[in-house]
Amino acid sequence: MAVTYELIKTCKQTGARLGKIHTPHGSFDTPMFMPVGTLATVKAMSPEELKEIGSGIILSNTYHLFLRPGHEIVKEAGGLHKFMNWDQAILTDSGGFQVFSLSNLRKIREEGVEFRSHLNGEKLFLSPEKATEIQNALGADIIMAFDECPPFPAEYQYVKDSLERTTRWAKRCLEAHANPDRQALFGIVQGGMYKDLRIESAQQLLDLNFPGYAIGGLSVGESADLMYEMLEHTVPILPQNKPRYLMGVGAPENLVEGVMRGIDMFDCVLPTRIARNGTMMTSKGKLVIRNAEYARDFRTVDENCQCKVCQNYSRAYIRHLIKCNEIFGFRLTTYHNLYYLINLMKQIRQAIAEDRLADFQKEFYAMRS
Ligand code: GUN
Ligand code: ZN
Repeated sequence: MAVTYELIKTCKQTGARLGKIHTPHGSFDTPMFMPVGTLATVKAMSPEELKEIGSGIILSNTYHLFLRPGHEIVKEAGGLHKFMNWDQAILTDSGGFQVFSLSNLRKIREEGVEFRSHLNGEKLFLSPEKATEIQNALGADIIMAFDECPPFPAEYQYVKDSLERTTRWAKRCLEAHANPDRQALFGIVQGGMYKDLRIESAQQLLDLNFPGYAIGGLSVGESADLMYEMLEHTVPILPQNKPRYLMGVGAPENLVEGVMRGIDMFDCVLPTRIARNGTMMTSKGKLVIRNAEYARDFRTVDENCQCKVCQNYSRAYIRHLIKCNEIFGFRLTTYHNLYYLINLMKQIRQAIAEDRLADFQKEFYAMRS
């Protein structure tokens, strides 16, 4: 088995899960946040720094690596781990989502999706078979089924047809998968914001017996309450002995709430993206370091953070670097934001271990108000 999930315990206050996922490239604790390394790099971070902050798994993207440099080149390099010098776990997203969010002029057919590259307009095609072939070549430890993430809002009938096609695509991914012993292929639950469609999607994918399940199609513009409601309809019907991954979610409060509803894995560009426009995540909420109010603020970014940025650099200095578009500024804000989220997950795991996640949630919100 490529990847196994070990359920260690559930929190008596909340039902949240503490676990461990074992992969051919080491194990990581869950709940976990996965930094996004779209183009085989987590922007502004070295693999050594990622290890330092304790992210045992990172995410990369089929769509982007297919366009540049091409999966054949990555395969020739010996796979994605070798290519980017990362020896811990990797998960690749299937391209399903990126085709819909980035590319132009896409045509969805039963066979797959025809689209134009967002880089040069070149006409390209992705299908369940192609996305699986690319992910087999990249060699990530966890790979994702090729799905459609419907827009929000979307009509009931559109979402129903879409999720049923996503199920047929998921089956084709399983059939095309060449390395099930080394790479775990996860299914992705869709169904938009419709309770019965979420349940239908989950049940169809459960019949296909994937080694793990993702929940897709959320954080697409709906309210947080609606997202939580969809989780409450979906997570309880997923198997206890397999990991649950909430895709594209990374706001600190969403991580706390997601874990309380039974999620084990998250990924999002949020911490790294906002870092590059000068927003830092702190125990007291967002801090927009670009703002003039920090020009003479020689205090540390977050007095509760133990990261090397907060130990060594002031708000005024980081603000200066970001205002001047200095590369080192992006490195500092990115390092801190990822450290903050990875450390938040560590605190969450500790709280689950001690059956006090509901208490932790209260303290978490109290600090931010
Ligand atoms: N990332 C965020 N949401 C989604 C989704 O619905 N599908 C896929 N493949 N990736 C995602
Ligand atoms: Zn810090």
